[in-house]
Amino acid sequence: MVEKIKVPGSQTVNGTVWVSGAKNAALPLLAASLLSSDGMELRNVPPLLDIDTMLDLLTQLGVICSITKNSPWANSIKLKTDSLYNFTAPYEIVKKMRASILVLGPLLARLGRCCVSLPGGCAIGVRPIDLHLKGLKALGAEIDLKDGYVYAKAIKGLKGADFRFPIVTVTGTENIMMAATLADGVTVLENVAREPEVVDLANCLNSMGAKISGQGTDVIEIKGVSNLGGAKYSVIPDRIEAGSYAIAAGITEGRVDLIGGNFRNVLQSFIDKMEEIGLIFSDIENGIHVESSGKLLSTSVCTSPYPGFPTDLQAQTMSLLCLAEGESEITENIWENRFMHAAELMRMGASISVSGAKAHIKGVKQLTGASVMATDLRASFGLITAALSASGDTTIDRVYHIDRGYSCLEEKFKGCEITLERVKGG
Ligand code: EPZ
Repeated sequence: MVEKIKVPGSQTVNGTVWVSGAKNAALPLLAASLLSSDGMELRNVPPLLDIDTMLDLLTQLGVICSITKNSPWANSIKLKTDSLYNFTAPYEIVKKMRASILVLGPLLARLGRCCVSLPGGCAIGVRPIDLHLKGLKALGAEIDLKDGYVYAKAIKGLKGADFRFPIVTVTGTENIMMAATLADGVTVLENVAREPEVVDLANCLNSMGAKISGQGTDVIEIKGVSNLGGAKYSVIPDRIEAGSYAIAAGITEGRVDLIGGNFRNVLQSFIDKMEEIGLIFSDIENGIHVESSGKLLSTSVCTSPYPGFPTDLQAQTMSLLCLAEGESEITENIWENRFMHAAELMRMGASISVSGAKAHIKGVKQLTGASVMATDLRASFGLITAALSASGDTTIDRVYHIDRGYSCLEEKFKGCEITLERVKGG
């Protein structure tokens, strides 16, 4: 049965949100467990559909996964990785979640061969993996594409090499960095992603015995080692979840305490932009307080790789700018099709025109409730925030997207005096 979320309008965010571990950090960390036969214990893992999908995939490869619930929004996961009996990531799993491609580098490095389904496109763009494959080829892997699968081989093991990414890719950097940890010799990766999630992965790999330096800059050096040990590691808090709830507070003229980490460090370009729009941020113990100044001002936003403005907060920001005084512009530089939410916001009375990578937004005084469709994970949250500020009820269809990346959504909003209702619908 399809689920929808009904959002009563004219609500104000007022409360505290415990931010979960970052989905986009947890997924590569889970894949990294494949690099060692000594197992891994990962803490602060968010309970999300995408995590379940990665655990399904690891289980199919021979990993034994056991989950302990530490709180409604955080699990510990023990991964027993001593006997992998399979090296195939099948289409049935990869089509559900593109991040499955993250097993490619670790499997190849540990087993010398693997077979991973090509992910295909998705709602926000074509999303090729050519750079993952080029990077692995540079490390000496033989790659064949057949019947929709990538067959990768490195029978004599991978060899350290220099490789420059022509464009910055997050999971591409993660895949090649993981593969290079077990390569023979030194690998230097240039123009790598600097995202905090990449740094988190490098730190975890180093705790397993890898020799990685430069993480957080645009050049990473990896001195290959012959094997890696186990790890006990805690996932960093989710900066995108934190930013999403900050916008929910701003759009509803409310306030929220975001607890769980130093968000200012990892969200600086986002916070700068939000302050320009009219949100007020102040540091509190183990988190940040966000409140509305009572006024939203227009601005221009360009998404770019870290430390730039994150594409994963673009849809939510568009909702906010729909209500900002004056005219705003958003340029989406990462994904070629990540404006599908604009048409849904227009059904709620927003004034937006999209041309290529640019969206032009004329602020309106009020949005009105409507039936809308969630087009991707971040767009879903953007529509919820828009709906909270609208007059009347909004019903959001295809909310399965949201369960992939936002844990305990209703509970977290309830802690902010917000009511959302999940309804079954045909
Ligand atoms: C990661 O995706 C995130 N996913 C995405 O989060 C995020 O939007 C994206 O990085 C950008 O920040 C995970 O970390 C699991 P990329 P990823 O490779 O790694 C092009 C969310 O909502 N490219 O950095 O797949 C690509 O087309 C999600 O949580 C190539 O051309 O993104 C894009 O234009 C959605 N060839 C650009 O690079 C390649 O081989 C950046 O993509 C790889 C990428």
